[in-house]
Amino acid sequence: MVRWIRMEEDISRIVSAEESGPDGAFDWALRPKTLDDYIGQQSVKENLKIFMEAAKTRSEPLEHVLIFGPPGLGKTTLAHIIANEMSGNIRVTSGPAIERTGDLAAILTNLNEGDILFIDEIHRLNKSIEEVLYPAMEDYALDIIIGKGPSARTLRLNLPKFTLVGATTKMSGLSSPLRDRFGNVYRLNFYNHDEIGQILSRAAKLLDVELHEEAGVEIAGRSRQTPRIANRLLRRVRDFAQVKKDGRIDKDTAREALAMLEVDHLGLDAIDRRYCQLLIEKFAGGPVGLNTISSALSEDIDTVEDVIEPFLLQLGFINRTARGRVLSEAAYKHFGQEAPDDLQKKLF
Ligand SMILES: Nc1ncnc2c1ncn2[C@@H]1O[C@H](COP(=O)(O)OP(=O)(O)OP(=O)(O)O)[C@@H](O)[C@H]1O
Ligand SMILES: [Mg+2]
Repeated sequence: MVRWIRMEEDISRIVSAEESGPDGAFDWALRPKTLDDYIGQQSVKENLKIFMEAAKTRSEPLEHVLIFGPPGLGKTTLAHIIANEMSGNIRVTSGPAIERTGDLAAILTNLNEGDILFIDEIHRLNKSIEEVLYPAMEDYALDIIIGKGPSARTLRLNLPKFTLVGATTKMSGLSSPLRDRFGNVYRLNFYNHDEIGQILSRAAKLLDVELHEEAGVEIAGRSRQTPRIANRLLRRVRDFAQVKKDGRIDKDTAREALAMLEVDHLGLDAIDRRYCQLLIEKFAGGPVGLNTISSALSEDIDTVEDVIEPFLLQLGFINRTARGRVLSEAAYKHFGQEAPDDLQKKLF
């Protein structure tokens, strides 16, 4: 839980992909409701369309779906779209929220046929709760143990045919028996500039603000290829435009506002810069272990691995090797530094 508390306190991190404070309501308002409104992720959408059509034609519930991807790329949004497209009710919970097997049993027995059960952060479910999920996913059954010791017996309750939609930012945190029980696994990718541009114009329309195309390009470039960040930057730029200008967002207004927010042209913020500078200044580019990085930055390991690193990896700024993280030449260049000669060798 430390991770969430830390990120919420750290409101200064405007390019964090994680949901924070006011984002909740804002995210909700901008969330597309249908697959056609969901921008990008073409292959995920095509696959999902076919699976949903097929299930509908057979009048069967959709097979269980696992959605995997870094924060802010649209997992929760997709889960709601699935429920909407399948005309089912959605029941939302999360891995850490289910503390006892009884909690899960109560949720499962209250589902109706065709309902979607959305478990966010499913990699954080504990082992004993996972075991209740196995028969529920496989046979739509709940095994209840009655009594203790030698006289204990199991009673099998039938459950309605539901669809489990699990979301995770950390595939490696999922046990393989759980992973294997999902019929469909979708990986969300970072969005390209053009897609982020479309997300921004859609959001601007919904917010009723005038966003010039070039201003959209400026914001898109700093959005770390992540819809949540694009929407958040748009909101901050809109505030700036309303307070300091006439409310319209043109290129200059966008530039001024973004400069004030201290997000550089690649979308890197202070934490990213600290990460890279640490590797440059203290470790000659690496390799450095995750533990060492985490303690040097005073960030917990999960935050470093799941929140800070995915975008740096995506930019090609770091490489993961067996001996630890190694900074790339591109990263050195971005920070105006000369890369060490043996940088390539460090990769092996
Ligand atoms: N494909 C998309 N098209 C348009 N908007 C999107 C898309 N994906 C995400 N968004 C926007 O980005 C916001 C964040 O998405 P969402 O909450 O679904 O991310 P998430 O992957 O669940 O993040 P987390 O890992 O933090 O739970 C949404 O409110 C939505 O407005
Ligand atoms: Mg989510």
